[in-house]
Amino acid sequence: DKGNYKHFMLKEIHEQPAVLADCLRAYADGGALRLPETLDFRGCRRVTIVACGTAYLAGLVAKHWIERMARIPVEVDVASEFRYREPPVPEGTTAIFVSQSGETADTLAALRYMKGKADRIVGVVNVATSTIARESDIVLPIHAGPEIAVASTKGFTCQLAVLALLALKAAFDLLGRDPAPDLATLDRLPGLMNEALGAEPGIESAAQELALASDALFLGRGAMSALALEGALKLKELSYIHAEGYASGELKHGPIALVDRDMPVIVVAPTDPLLEKTISNMQEVMAREGRVVLLTDAAGAKAAGQGPVRVLTMPEVPAILAPMIYAVPLQLLAYHTARLKGTDVDQPRNLAKSVTVE
Ligand code: F6R
Repeated sequence: DKGNYKHFMLKEIHEQPAVLADCLRAYADGGALRLPETLDFRGCRRVTIVACGTAYLAGLVAKHWIERMARIPVEVDVASEFRYREPPVPEGTTAIFVSQSGETADTLAALRYMKGKADRIVGVVNVATSTIARESDIVLPIHAGPEIAVASTKGFTCQLAVLALLALKAAFDLLGRDPAPDLATLDRLPGLMNEALGAEPGIESAAQELALASDALFLGRGAMSALALEGALKLKELSYIHAEGYASGELKHGPIALVDRDMPVIVVAPTDPLLEKTISNMQEVMAREGRVVLLTDAAGAKAAGQGPVRVLTMPEVPAILAPMIYAVPLQLLAYHTARLKGTDVDQPRNLAKSVTVE
């Protein structure tokens, strides 16, 4: 049931504050983590995350969190590559498989490859009865509720929330890092996400311009480079506009050749220690008449000055929340652009909700 919404996708975007609250409630309680006891990272030396599509991009964000907080190396790979590369698996590897449906053929094959090789297999799934859930040693359901629209939205942000909690657990087990302050921060996520949803009218006008473009670039740094990839993926699958996401620092190494006055460049840049560098990338785009749409907070907007054709202002958020919060305007931008173009938002052409054949 779509309720009062025109599409399942829009409903699922708006459900995010509520399902994230459910998800956090399932795994954290009064400043303490409540993850399965078997999820113990002592002795873990390395994490491998394998997934497809948007779930893979959640893995890329998790790499930043786990490496930064728990100081162990994290490898992230797309399942179709991982399974056929048959990589060596060092001792002390924890393998994490991220899948909304829990049925994705390549992800499942990668999981089966890791059996007997990894110390433990963790499934981060939405469908708790799925094959990936059944075949994992430890299952962490993301509690997003049924996701009907083909393009993943609340699935992505709930995957992120669970992966953030998992990173906190790893940091506690390996370094004795107290999770309480970050858990208190995560408690603010549903409220801040409601604020982010409030930016929808501005995003709708940005979508009117974007709907006229034939190509778009998305840029971001650090964990936000994964969000740039997610923004580009959502836009292409929903609106059929050709879009590419890049780490901002890669701009000069090729994609800047594409920039001209017809090229919208969506820059995902919350205020953080890397903001200045991203602003300088943005200026390079503007010097070539590229049309910058800047997604940032009030301080970032001030630092960026007059150049961008449009600034979409997000609430000011702690770093750990930024990937979830900035997913929202990127989802809405793709949604409204597609709606204006009249494409089938819930069932984009050529796509299936669950990719059970490779
Ligand atoms: C994009 C999208 C897909 C899925 C991918 C993996 O919006 O929905 O890229 O994320 O097909 O699916 P799951 O998570 O079910 O393994």
